[in-house]
Amino acid sequence: MRIDVITIFPEYLTPLDVSLVGKARRRGLLDVRVHDLREWTHDRHRTVDDTPYGGGPGMVMKPEPWGEALDDVIGGHGAEHDVPRAEEPDGEPATAGPRPVLVVPTPSGTPFTQKVAAELAAEPWLVFTPARYEGIDRRVVDAYAQRMEVRELSVGDYVLAGGEAPVLVMVEAVARLLPGVLGNAESHRDDSFAEGSMTSLLEGPVYTKPLEWRGHEVPEVLLSGHHGRISRWRRDEALRRTALNRPELLRAVEPAATDRADRAT
Ligand code: ADE
Repeated sequence: MRIDVITIFPEYLTPLDVSLVGKARRRGLLDVRVHDLREWTHDRHRTVDDTPYGGGPGMVMKPEPWGEALDDVIGGHGAEHDVPRAEEPDGEPATAGPRPVLVVPTPSGTPFTQKVAAELAAEPWLVFTPARYEGIDRRVVDAYAQRMEVRELSVGDYVLAGGEAPVLVMVEAVARLLPGVLGNAESHRDDSFAEGSMTSLLEGPVYTKPLEWRGHEVPEVLLSGHHGRISRWRRDEALRRTALNRPELLRAVEPAATDRADRAT
């Protein structure tokens, strides 16, 4: 997968060099390119913002640098939607190759969920446009939505100072779903929010050695070696934690899903 990020704070994205994402990059599973938006300004002050039409507080990001940056980064690949691609004389499409999805982090977007992460992980190419100030001139999204898929996504019901931290969140959630990125292919099967046996339930508690720590013991059932009892206990703990922390999620769980672990044993 290829990921481009266009930002006025390229250094904010340096965590993408380390840990899971950094390793995936070094292993060639992920091609991440971070671009400085100010490279596409033409004035001495490298201006990217201006005052809002209609008045109001704060500044708005100007459309021109974003347009030039996106055109350069996307190249010919963001071709017109639903318009047959022009054929080159040799018969090859003029814009062959993957078409990117434009991901715009904004608190006004639709929620970024595990389901959205999985959808993005199935794409060959994502282009992120994290904004600062009061956001980007609306015409940028409107113009590129005519050429490619655009997803405006929020990482939560709070307002951050910019879209860079949401990009870090989204790239990590997507990267760990890419084939070969996680060491153990099974290790995201029972994640909180993962599809599958624990659909929509939060993950229960986990334990490792030592058996006793500061007077607290590992639950006996986990030492029993009885897989049926263990999976029932895990299912019950997941239900308990979900009821406590996210009761609204339980309403989305089909009753049969909470019984499946019993039947499987
Ligand atoms: N930019 C600022 N706040 C944000 C949020 N909650 N989600 C996505 N982008 C943002």
